[in-house]
Amino acid sequence: MAHSHFQDDIVYQIYPRSFQDSDGDGIGDLKGIISRLPYLKKLGVTALWLSPCFVSPMEDMGYDIADYYHIDPIFGTNEDMDELIYEAGKRGMRIVLDMVLNHTSKEHEWFKKGRESVDNPYHEFYIWSKTPNDIQSTFGGSAWEYNEATQEYYFHLYAPGQPDLNWDSQKMREALYDACNYWLEKGVYGFRLDVIENIGKEIDKHIIQNGPTLHERLHELNRNTFGKYDSITIGECWCADHNTRLLYTDPSREELSMVFLFNDWGAFHDPYYGKWKCRPFDPHIYRDIIYARQQTDPAKSWDTIFWNNHDLPRALNRYTDLNYRKEAAKMLFASTLFLRGTPFIYQGDEIGMVNGHFASIKDFRDIEAINHYQILQNMGMSEEEAKAALDKTARDNGRIPMRWNSRKGYGFTKGTPWVDGGKDEKGFSVSEEEKDPTSILSFYKEAIALWKKEPYRTLIREGSFSPDYLEMTDWIAYTRMLNGKRLRVIANFSTNTYPKPDIPGKVLLHNYLEETDQLRPYEVYVFYVD
Ligand code: GLC
Repeated sequence: MAHSHFQDDIVYQIYPRSFQDSDGDGIGDLKGIISRLPYLKKLGVTALWLSPCFVSPMEDMGYDIADYYHIDPIFGTNEDMDELIYEAGKRGMRIVLDMVLNHTSKEHEWFKKGRESVDNPYHEFYIWSKTPNDIQSTFGGSAWEYNEATQEYYFHLYAPGQPDLNWDSQKMREALYDACNYWLEKGVYGFRLDVIENIGKEIDKHIIQNGPTLHERLHELNRNTFGKYDSITIGECWCADHNTRLLYTDPSREELSMVFLFNDWGAFHDPYYGKWKCRPFDPHIYRDIIYARQQTDPAKSWDTIFWNNHDLPRALNRYTDLNYRKEAAKMLFASTLFLRGTPFIYQGDEIGMVNGHFASIKDFRDIEAINHYQILQNMGMSEEEAKAALDKTARDNGRIPMRWNSRKGYGFTKGTPWVDGGKDEKGFSVSEEEKDPTSILSFYKEAIALWKKEPYRTLIREGSFSPDYLEMTDWIAYTRMLNGKRLRVIANFSTNTYPKPDIPGKVLLHNYLEETDQLRPYEVYVFYVD
């Protein structure tokens, strides 16, 4: 059977370091992922996005690539990747690789050669200046680092070990196309493109995101690589809004299939401390951002639907009251699953994983968290406040090992996990949830099976979207409609209890054991009306 279009995919993100370790070194690997394919198939997902597993010094946990053509030995070999592509394919799942095309590692051959002299042919692959400006690195400090041999500074928007590539160099662009094509030829389904909004930058004018050449470059990338295949591409964009997003996704422009936006997450940032200190969550603000995206021109847009990834603390902690962890985890999934777009499940969402417990600052592993412990203190926080801020916001929260069981090593490793996160409360691991028909995991399986089944499939892919009960500011409620058939979602995104509206039709999905005439904390219903 031919595989359908990307609009029928439901994607599962794997953070390879933390998914499954097969050799006891405390770091997940490709053989580990292969051993868990039967689990993923049972869950029902159709594509697996792997955070980068290429050769890397791991300064930014693999987002610093030193060789686009080889798997890092920590994760396995290229043969393991071939096997993963094949074994996943046999089970109806395709592999999406994470391509970091904005920068490489400073250990990449191109950089090692390019930094030797201005006459080296690889020098033009990177961005240099004799007179650095004041642009700051996302991870803290100046974005410029001195290079003795050429007496220039190189630009790095992220860590000093992540020099930015010069997209104005055609030779450089062609070298990246070759790398992308190498993996496409091997049968990968497509790419998640790391911070792709940065590739049109004009540094002299302080323009990083959404630069003047961005879309021209993306179109060229598309035409030279994935555009020639039946593929899926997801661009990571922190600075696009729901309208500029269409420049990427309008199919006639031949750029990307879809983009990840973060406006919903950014909406709650502190004006001074940014993401390190979030304002209280307000479902109504969140909801309006999501609705605006659903209401843009469907011919030009295709949305992404996700709550978590490896850069975010867990949504359950951020947005919900953990006294209702089970109900809330199911509600988060069901309330947005039926929107128009591609759903992404981040490893552990399906068992209701929450943030880790980091006893001391030494337990954090992420360069961004480690740097910000000091930066936040320089900005005015005390040591305790900085630690407490990291506990809530550090990216390590989303990177703790997958809880396969509740024993030592979590079923993730026989060794010592590279990042831990401590013991969780009972009941929230795969082995416990697999046995429980009322578990979050069982709910995910049921919801995914529905999502894939007709007549719902066509309705979810093609139906119109209209918000309901806008006056209920704690609710996410909407109708999807096609040819008179409707899906109606009503979710209570709060700990309040409300009278439940009387909706005709069949209950397809519900997250409490029994139905009442109320909408209880985090209760969600999905109705089908034909
Ligand atoms: C993206 C990645 C993040 C990484 C950064 C730099 O935002 O998701 O993990 O640190 O790009 O590559």
